[in-house]
Amino acid sequence: MNTPHVVVVMGVAGTGKTTIGPLLAARLGVPYAEGDDFHPQSNIAKMSAGTPLTDDDRWPWLDAIGDWAQGRAGLGGVVSCSALKRSYRDRLRAAAPGVVFVHLTGDRALVEDRMSHRQGHFMPTALLDSQFATLQPLEPDEAGVAVNVTGSPEKITERAATALASLSGPTA
Ligand SMILES: Nc1ncnc2c1ncn2[C@@H]1O[C@H](COP(=O)(O)OP(=O)(O)OP(=O)(O)O)[C@@H](O)[C@H]1O
Ligand SMILES: [Mg+2]
Repeated sequence: MNTPHVVVVMGVAGTGKTTIGPLLAARLGVPYAEGDDFHPQSNIAKMSAGTPLTDDDRWPWLDAIGDWAQGRAGLGGVVSCSALKRSYRDRLRAAAPGVVFVHLTGDRALVEDRMSHRQGHFMPTALLDSQFATLQPLEPDEAGVAVNVTGSPEKITERAATALASLSGPTA
């Protein structure tokens, strides 16, 4: 049997990371961690004040997620993290070399529609624009799969699990 994957579910805001992550973890029989929970207090204070995070703010957050992922090496796990830039993913891989990415992809109209139905979360249009502008999709040398987010969460989870199964397992 293949070594279980440690998966980072990535993508712009509203693509369903928090929705699909736990479902995928359950499907794979591994624990799930919510990436937003790894922010240091200083980042939480900034975000609460509506101040955008800088990349310098993000490194300790990414390192904490990377530490969790590395702790799951050989055991399997799923963690959500937008990981929009290649440099963020490089940072995660520096801590956890075996991670694989599931990039949840959807067009702008679909994501905006889903965001507009989300309870208790207001996302200004400009913020979604900046998310799409910042996004650097997976490059060919990065371990991972892109999964389209049309359809139900169950369908997307199945699509992700099938795509992951086509990747060879980590060698660690
Ligand atoms: N397949 C789906 N079909 C319908 N609604 C969905 C689907 N996936 C997610 N949603 C809804 O879309 C909204 C955004 O999903 P979710 O919160 O999981 O995204 P996210 O990527 O975690 O966003 P953020 O980056 O802001 O944390 C939520 O209201 C969620 O219930
Ligand atoms: Mg989320």
